[in-house]
This record gives sequence, C-alpha cells and structure tokens, in this order.
Amino acid sequence: MQDIAFDALVHGVYVVTTRVRDIINGMTASWVSQVSLKPLLLMVSIAPARYTHDLILESRVFAINVLTVDQVDLGKRFGYKSGRKVDKFAGLEYKTAKSGAPFLPQAYAYFDLKLVDTFTAGDHTLFVGEVADARILQKAAPPLVFHKKDFF
Ligand SMILES: Cc1cc2nc3c(=O)[nH]c(=O)nc-3n(C[C@H](O)[C@H](O)[C@H](O)COP(=O)(O)O)c2cc1C
Repeated sequence: MQDIAFDALVHGVYVVTTRVRDIINGMTASWVSQVSLKPLLLMVSIAPARYTHDLILESRVFAINVLTVDQVDLGKRFGYKSGRKVDKFAGLEYKTAKSGAPFLPQAYAYFDLKLVDTFTAGDHTLFVGEVADARILQKAAPPLVFHKKDFF
C-alpha cells in the first residue's frame, strides 16, 4: 500500500530550514501542505531522526523554500545528507528571513513560519506553522514536483 501512496499522491519539493543561535540547517521535504486559511497555517511532516526535527523543536521557527524545476540539485544537496555531518549551506547563497531562519533567494518562493503546534503522526511529527511572511522570489520557473519516488 505504501507503493500506491508514493505512486498516486503528488507533492512539491521543498527545503525546510531553521536556525538555532549560530547553527543553520535545512532538509528536503515533500510532505508539506497548507492546512488552514485563517490563520494561514502550513505543515511539514518530519521524521524524528532528522537533525532539522530537533532544531525546529528548539528554535520554534522554520522557513519553507519552494524549489523550481531547475533545482533538483538543491533537493539532493539538502535531502541526502544530514546537517549533523555536513554544512549543507557551505558555498551556497542564502538570506535571513524575519524569524532568523535562512531562505534560498534562488527558490520559487519561501514562507517564514512560527511553530504553533506539533503532532505525532505514526513514525513522523507534523510541524504546524503560522505564516508570518511569504514571498514569491522567482516567477519564471515553475515549482518542482515529487512523484513516484523521483523529482522532475
Ligand atoms: C525528495 C525528498 C523528499 C523528502 N521528504 C522528506 C519529508 O517530507 N520528511 C522527512 O522527514 N524527510 C524527507 N526527506 C529526507 C530528508 O531530507 C533527509 O533525511 C535529510 O538528510 C535530513 O537532513 P537533516 O538530518 O540535516 O535534517 C526527503 C528527501 C528527499 C530527497
């Protein structure tokens, strides 16, 4: 049944970032969704083993960067290694959102969020954030899509 979920459900590809004091980190996530209009709430589902999971619990803020079709490389950079072992921002241009979380100016858009709730959901944790700021950054390229365990 898991294969059917991967096959049939379509997601975007995002880099979820945060900052704790002078530590910045980000991870690729595809399980991201809007969950409320007023207030405007988004959620990301993150496995407890991810470094980003613990960092967001501590910082209580995060940013969601929407990757474009040209940014498969960024999806791989942030999705295949842990920030516990490598600095995924090394050599990469980034800016700082109002919350302090880093964002990627080359992304399609970013949302700056304040953590309002967490829920344990099976083997993941749902992080629900209220959007404090949001910007479209690069309109030209459409957002990247994750489908059938791959991204295009
Ligand atoms: C395309 C793609 C989508 C991913 N989606 C998620 C996700 O939604 N939730 C999650 O917990 N991990 C997801 N991952 C895995 C994390 O990005 C990966 O484990 C990452 O290395 C964690 O980094 P960190 O330990 O620095 O937080 C995804 C990876 C890829 C390549």
